[in-house]
Amino acid sequence: MRARSYQSRNSLGEKNRRGMVALLNQQLADALDLGLQAKQAHWNVKGPQFVGLHQLFDKLAEELEGFTDDIAERAVELGGIAQGTVQIVLKCSRLTAYPLDLASGQGHVAALSGVLAGFGATTRAAIYIADKAGDADTADLFTEVSRGVDKLLWMVEAHLQSKD
Ligand SMILES: [Fe+2]
Repeated sequence: MRARSYQSRNSLGEKNRRGMVALLNQQLADALDLGLQAKQAHWNVKGPQFVGLHQLFDKLAEELEGFTDDIAERAVELGGIAQGTVQIVLKCSRLTAYPLDLASGQGHVAALSGVLAGFGATTRAAIYIADKAGDADTADLFTEVSRGVDKLLWMVEAHLQSKD
C-alpha cells in the first residue's frame, strides 16, 4: 500500500522523501518497542542491583522517548505520516519480544543489551541509507540516535563486565 504523502516545498525530491519516511517509520516502530521494553525492565527488575538498574532502565526509556519524538516528527516534516500506534509497533517492530518472566538484574541486562545492540545496528544502517539518498539531515538525526544508543548500550553492558 502506498502511504499518503503531503505536498511540500522541501527541496528533497518527493521520491526521496517517501523513502526517508518509510525508513523513519521503521526505526520509529523499533524505537517505540525498545522504549516499552526498557519500561518493562524498569518495573520488574529485582535483586541486589535493584536501585541502580531500576533508575538506569528508566533513563533508557526517557532517552528513547526523545529519539522517537525526533524520528516521528522528521517523518512528518518530510510530508509523511508518523506511524506510532501500538498496532503498527506490533506489526512492524523487528525487535525480539521481551521475555515476561525475567527477574534478576543480570537477566534484564542481558535481554536489554541484546535489543539495544540490534537497534544500534539498524540505526547505523539507516545512517548509510539516508546518506546514499542524499538526505544529510535524516542521516544526521540517525547519527545522533546511534551515538545515544551506543552510550546506553555501554551503560547497560557495563553490568556484565565487572570481572577483572
Ligand atoms: Fe517508574
